[in-house]
Amino acid sequence: MKSCLIAAAAATIPTLVLAVPTGEKQYFFDTIPASSELIWYPCNQTYECARLSVPLNPLEPNNGLRSEIPIIKRPADKSDEYKGIILTNPGGPGGLGIPFIFASGDEIANFTGPGWDIIGFDPRGMGYSKPHGALGWLGIPPVSPDLQNATYIPPNQQKRAIRADHYGIKIAPRPDAWIESLYEASAEFNELLQAHGNADNQAVPYMTTPNVAFDMLQIAKADARLKGKSDDDVLVNYYGVSYGSVVGQTFTSLYPQHVGRFVIDSVVDLEDWYKAEVGSTLQHTDEGVSTFFTSCFDAGPEKCSFFTGHTSGAIRDRHNNLWANFDLTRAIQEGWGNVTDVAAGQDVMKNILLYVPYSALLNFPAYADTLTTVEALVKANNATAENMIEIGTLWTGPEDPTDPFRAENPFETWCSDSNNPRMVGSDLPIPQEFIDIVHNSSVSSGERFVQVYALCSRLKLRPKWRFSGKVGGDTKTPVLFIGLSKDPITPYENAEKARTLHKGAKMIYVEAVGHGIIGQRNWCVYDKVRAYFQDLTLPGHDNRCPQGDIPFQYIPQAHHKKRDGKDVVAYHRNMVRMHSAFGAM
Ligand SMILES: *[C@@H]1O[C@H](CO)[C@@H](O)[C@H](O)[C@H]1NC(C)=O
Ligand SMILES: *[C@@H]1O[C@H](CO)[C@@H](O)[C@H](O)[C@H]1NC(C)=O
Ligand SMILES: *[C@@H]1O[C@H](CO)[C@@H](O)[C@H](O)[C@H]1NC(C)=O
Ligand SMILES: *[C@@H]1O[C@H](CO)[C@@H](O)[C@H](O)[C@H]1NC(C)=O
Ligand SMILES: *[C@@H]1O[C@H](CO)[C@@H](O)[C@H](O)[C@H]1NC(C)=O
Ligand SMILES: *[C@@H]1O[C@H](CO)[C@@H](O)[C@H](O)[C@H]1NC(C)=O
Repeated sequence: MKSCLIAAAAATIPTLVLAVPTGEKQYFFDTIPASSELIWYPCNQTYECARLSVPLNPLEPNNGLRSEIPIIKRPADKSDEYKGIILTNPGGPGGLGIPFIFASGDEIANFTGPGWDIIGFDPRGMGYSKPHGALGWLGIPPVSPDLQNATYIPPNQQKRAIRADHYGIKIAPRPDAWIESLYEASAEFNELLQAHGNADNQAVPYMTTPNVAFDMLQIAKADARLKGKSDDDVLVNYYGVSYGSVVGQTFTSLYPQHVGRFVIDSVVDLEDWYKAEVGSTLQHTDEGVSTFFTSCFDAGPEKCSFFTGHTSGAIRDRHNNLWANFDLTRAIQEGWGNVTDVAAGQDVMKNILLYVPYSALLNFPAYADTLTTVEALVKANNATAENMIEIGTLWTGPEDPTDPFRAENPFETWCSDSNNPRMVGSDLPIPQEFIDIVHNSSVSSGERFVQVYALCSRLKLRPKWRFSGKVGGDTKTPVLFIGLSKDPITPYENAEKARTLHKGAKMIYVEAVGHGIIGQRNWCVYDKVRAYFQDLTLPGHDNRCPQGDIPFQYIPQAHHKKRDGKDVVAYHRNMVRMHSAFGAM
């Protein structure tokens, strides 16, 4: 199985969850978008404001109707030890929380003492709330009808708003026949796995993630015994990234009393993982890829080989034009003479692009070189399957089944974890709705999940232990989560959610197009993680890290070798191979 940009100016991005505003700009409730997680915007100089979207009717939380709660924070003084937030209400009914903080926030802070954020919010239907009540201040005239209606978000989109134009990136989906060919290509592997996994093999029933969490506990217990200590109340310390966040959160949920220092980086939504729901994971994928255009433009022609024109839009257009040569659906429909080459080229290009936003810092320069090389091949009418596969090999290295560091197939774990009979072991094709969701979510790499679940859908393994408990809990030690602002596969919103599910947990928000902090060269986040592992220091208000090194400015020289006059991406080979072979994370 094989598979796997920018809106030039970020002028009119209506997304709810853009990276939060830094710098001088001040916001107020007329410009702060609603969001189902708290996102604080600098407001009125010394305050921070947010607009939280909650169900309009708490008794019917999923009917799509939402209420927007305006919230203001008078932040605790940064020099004091941070204690948390204190919500306030000024009285009434009818008293507004926002002006209350403007008027009395300092005084409240004086009597609550240092370390507390003082929070005010307008009650339902009042002040800057939406929807607003009918009559407002004594009712004459009635409040404008525009303000009286709730926000409506279709239930399946409540979590993430995905931009329909994919940031201007135009990449054709693979043809429907591709999904059929996936089944065929995987049939043999699938039958083998099913036959052996269900027959004599004694590992497969025990390869779900809860088993891995159990093993971590056994390791720590054995270590305690080795050191002559009781293993009853042993604490496990842990750093896990990506799927490692599935392991980490499964552990914290199963064994909260054994949680020691836990850093969980680039967080999967655990509930979605066990339900095989994936649409939400792709929230920032195209957004991250689209920054290639601005990064390349900012870098200039010296540093970015794919540079062109006078705006980043010109680079985006050049990118779209190049990708149009690999539109297999069109090639088939229009009877192009090069269908075989286009098919191979589309696969290679998609596999590379799948991996590019995993680290803008490491991958953007190499991606620019790849695009330039491929464009020259197309122009020379020489983008043959053979030449394109060679380009792919520059990213993955040659296939080497004896490589001891090769990743293993993920399906015994992934498919067994998924507790969704429609998606796993159903013997039915993947639901069309699933395919539509991944296509709608990301043109650059949504299809990765079709690859995974095409295999799962016909695989009937019989795991003995599937996780079905409640996620999170009251852990012995507070957990530290990390989210990157434009992560292509685990949106930072997942880290925010995980934080709320774990008592006392904190989250670090890192500005980066990437997945995981390793390789990001972001000393800010490394300092914070170190402080946590050293002294259990948790970030409070200072939980944001700006971008570290800038793509194209930092060139990963050490990893960049020349081979046959071509640039070779020699780092992370196994990662690239794992992604392109399995769509894994
Ligand atoms: C806060 O800022 C908004 C927008 O700049 C302004 O309209 C409002 O009057 C300010 N309120 C106070 C109390 O400063
Ligand atoms: C509260 O205000 C009084 C009077 O200005 C001041 O002396 C005191 O230090 C303040 N206390 C705190 C905790 O800010
Ligand atoms: C408010 O909602 C109602 C019912 O959905 C709709 O008929 C009406 O047009 C809406 N009004 C405005 C101003 O959007
Ligand atoms: C395939 O053929 C079409 C039509 O002749 C051409 O426009 C396109 O550039 C070719 N694609 C590749 C990858 O060479
Ligand atoms: C096409 O690519 C092959 C393999 O790299 C090369 O040997 C050949 O010279 C190229 N043909 C043209 C016309 O550039
Ligand atoms: C996908 O997007 C199309 C076009 O915007 C829309 O009509 C369709 O309802 C979407 N499908 C899903 C499952 O989101």
